[in-house]
Amino acid sequence: MSSPVVLEKRGAVGVILVQNPPVNALSQAVRQGLRDRLAEALADDSITAVVLAGDGRTFIAGADIREFGKPMTAPGLNEVIQDYENATKPVVAAIHGTALGGGLETAFAAHYRVAVAKGFVGLPEVKLGLLPGAGGTQRLPRVAGVETALKMITSGDMLPAPLAQKAGIVDAIVDELIPGACAFAEKLVADGAPLKVISRSRGKLDEADKGIFDKFRADLAKKARGVLAPQNCIAAVEASVTSDSFEAGLKREGELFMELMQSPQRAAQIHAFFGEREVAKIPDIPKGTPTREINSCAILGCGTMGGGIAMNFLNAGIPVTILELEQAALDRGIGIIRRNYENSAKRGRFTMEEVEKRMGLLTPTTSYDDIGQADIVIEAVFEDMEIKKQVFAKLDAVMKPGAILASNTSTLDIDEIASVTKRPEDVIGTHFFSPANVMKLLENVRGAKSSPNTIQTVMDLGKRIGKICVLAGNCHGFIGNRMLHPYGRQASFLVEEGAQPEDVDRVLYDFGLAMGPFAMGDLAGLDVGYRVRQHQLKTWPQGRRYSSLADKVVELGRHGQKTGAGWYRYEEGSRVPLPDPVVKELIEKNSAEAGIKRGEISDDEILERCMYALVNEGAKILEEGIAIRSVDIDITYMNGYGFPKHRGGPMHYADYVGLDKVLERIRHYYEQSGEDDWKPAALIEKLVAEGKSFADFQR
Ligand code: 3HC
Ligand code: NAI
Repeated sequence: MSSPVVLEKRGAVGVILVQNPPVNALSQAVRQGLRDRLAEALADDSITAVVLAGDGRTFIAGADIREFGKPMTAPGLNEVIQDYENATKPVVAAIHGTALGGGLETAFAAHYRVAVAKGFVGLPEVKLGLLPGAGGTQRLPRVAGVETALKMITSGDMLPAPLAQKAGIVDAIVDELIPGACAFAEKLVADGAPLKVISRSRGKLDEADKGIFDKFRADLAKKARGVLAPQNCIAAVEASVTSDSFEAGLKREGELFMELMQSPQRAAQIHAFFGEREVAKIPDIPKGTPTREINSCAILGCGTMGGGIAMNFLNAGIPVTILELEQAALDRGIGIIRRNYENSAKRGRFTMEEVEKRMGLLTPTTSYDDIGQADIVIEAVFEDMEIKKQVFAKLDAVMKPGAILASNTSTLDIDEIASVTKRPEDVIGTHFFSPANVMKLLENVRGAKSSPNTIQTVMDLGKRIGKICVLAGNCHGFIGNRMLHPYGRQASFLVEEGAQPEDVDRVLYDFGLAMGPFAMGDLAGLDVGYRVRQHQLKTWPQGRRYSSLADKVVELGRHGQKTGAGWYRYEEGSRVPLPDPVVKELIEKNSAEAGIKRGEISDDEILERCMYALVNEGAKILEEGIAIRSVDIDITYMNGYGFPKHRGGPMHYADYVGLDKVLERIRHYYEQSGEDDWKPAALIEKLVAEGKSFADFQR
């Protein structure tokens, strides 16, 4: 069988090329090939130096993540690295694309590293719930110093080659990869340059400030609450400084790595990694489906969402025309966009020229005449079906043929909206999350008639503006907001039955959520939900439990943070939620009036009822085909609803707990309450009967 690593001769330089597309991951065959080709190059007397490079679009982007969790196959990466360090001829790593994780660790085995200016280096393992496990935590601090190493390893962020050169990670920048690296290698030979082996000296280790590890530990305990990997990363880098020898440090790195490898957090984070790529694949829309070119965008409504959505396009260099009916609303919205950009510039994220450049791409208007030529229009007006229909009828009349007509509705029926146009194939939902310029998720909603071209164009566009796109089917609330309903209902019922809002929020915060449902409600504004519920109450099914507690809070004028009080009270100028005796009294009175006996509610019950309500609804969404795969639900929750990545999303969490156990508890709550929400999803029953998990589900 041919090896994915080849040896080519360029004059007296042996070029070892990794050919394992798409990213030259270090599979077993690559590791073996790296060893074999090096041995050949060293045995060949006509070769005086070796260049190690990646063929195709990148250097080596790391270990083969698909091998994780499977039995290890020899040779291990550390053995390969040792071979290269011990090479008797100069070895130069030639970096282009991304030298990541095990890829950069392999480059550290070379005696010298060169890179093209557009290359990147990084140790992103922490994002997979891991740490660099092939000496990265020992070699990076030696070459770049402890602080840089801690920053890179705990953030996982990449460094562009010119900065990597400044940091000491790369020795030279070359114009052309292979010719430049070969010339560099030939010069080493000509100069009789030493074979520099990073592991054989302490390098910059002793420049480290002793307090730095505790500082990083405290910082990351806050920033990455409950996440193991960053803490183990710090401990491994610390071992580089405190160990007597390189080998002892490497051994400690290995122990800390294995601890993470066995952790459910690692499985969850790798599930998230592959999930983010999986959701781009739509089974009935093959690769190569024709798409439309999008070079301009129109947005209707310059409120909270319209303004944020516009910023995404401006940031990507796509001109935006934004429409409001009233000049005053338009001026207010544009003012907010400008202020947001100026604040970013003040924080040093970009220059004031950049602010003007982005604002220069924005055209405010109050006239539909100005938007007709846009390639896509995104409607972000009030959440009201009648208004949306009026707007879409108007768009149908003014937009050029072939324009995509998108709605940012967070709950409404896309087919009903499309029905007022003569081109429902061009209509789609593009559900952004607030703040729309920050949140990574874009939940695209496919109507019954949305064409493959429309869907694929919007999926590609989402990627271009930096979003992770999930494609949902059409139903009230789609994937994300539909699941939020039973979750919110359980949170309210728990409070009616004996918990306090701060108990529910604490349990979910400790689980890892960005915030619990009550703090979230206060942040988003309680009046919005109030209006929706008043509407729903008109057709509320008889006998279905309804909690009017939230309505009573709003009726006290407590709309959340914006009125200084909601479920919590807030001190002037502060966003810290403080439990409020007024609310406590209201809760007790409400329970008494509703005839609900309050009692002790355990933290376990809070977690189960909130999580399993999400999971049960998620399963229903999956069986109805609203979500394509369970991972689409997980990606939605991790990127749009603050669900912790180290838990892998609600469906992955259920798989981790064990679907049989989850089903048993759902049945228990169904028997106890008799509520429809708790009727076990048929899909869960089926999967449990077949001994399967959500991850096994295939349509
Ligand atoms: N192993 C296996 N598959 C990988 C992979 C890896 N390390 N990196 C990427 N892939 C796969 C992706 O899943 C995707 O597959 P698909 O086409 O079937 O969906 C394909 O390669 C292309 O990846 P992207 O779509 O992400 O391509 P981009 O060009 O957008 O990004 C990248 C390229 C920046 C390299 C990005 O893929 C990436 O960040 N990869 C992960 C890098 C990483 O985490 N490396 C560290 C691994 S852990 C390690 O090395 C442990 C060591 O310390 C011992
Ligand atoms: P908003 O009230 O902040 O903004 C709506 C804007 O639309 C206002 O500025 C209003 O003047 C303008 N407008 C109303 N009718 C118009 C018309 N006919 N033509 C042009 N402009 C018109 O509301 P928000 O929060 O921005 O919501 C907009 C849409 O986004 C809604 O459909 C909402 O459900 C959805 N959404 C909201 C999220 C949020 O967190 N606020 C999250 C995701 C979606």
